[in-house]
Amino acid sequence: MVKPDGVRANHTDAIKEQIQAASFAIISQKWVHLNESAAIAFYAEHSNRAFFPSLIDFMTSGPVLAMVLEKPNAVAEWRSLIGPTDSQEARLDAPDSIRARYGRDKQNNCVHGSDSQEAAAREISFFFDEYHQSEMKLDA
Ligand code: CMP
Repeated sequence: MVKPDGVRANHTDAIKEQIQAASFAIISQKWVHLNESAAIAFYAEHSNRAFFPSLIDFMTSGPVLAMVLEKPNAVAEWRSLIGPTDSQEARLDAPDSIRARYGRDKQNNCVHGSDSQEAAAREISFFFDEYHQSEMKLDA
């Protein structure tokens, strides 16, 4: 997912070029503007963290681009391409990563990646199953 900061700063096309250069296939994509209940549901595992209210404000601040990416070992390969959660750390440890190039800090880190096969299945269903569409504000 390209997050609201990445969409706002017009980094979406450059990120998609980097995705394709790394031999991922973009299987599906959808623009979505998460409302509060959808953002809370998406990030439910972080609901006890101090940064959660701020994360929800951020994630509802504008549209995101959700994508289904395909490649062998896609979950690990994508996490490697995006780099560490904190964009400042990414600039030191993985300077060519997407978060290093386009993110700003721990929260405004431009992109999200599923952290396991199970999370990927859940998150793909979250964005692309018809059932969920009524719970989110669709921008396009
Ligand atoms: P993401 O990989 O989408 O998963 C959870 C998100 O919470 C993370 O990216 C960041 O946007 C945000 N996040 C994680 N840690 C922090 C933190 N310490 N402070 C603020 N936001 C954070």
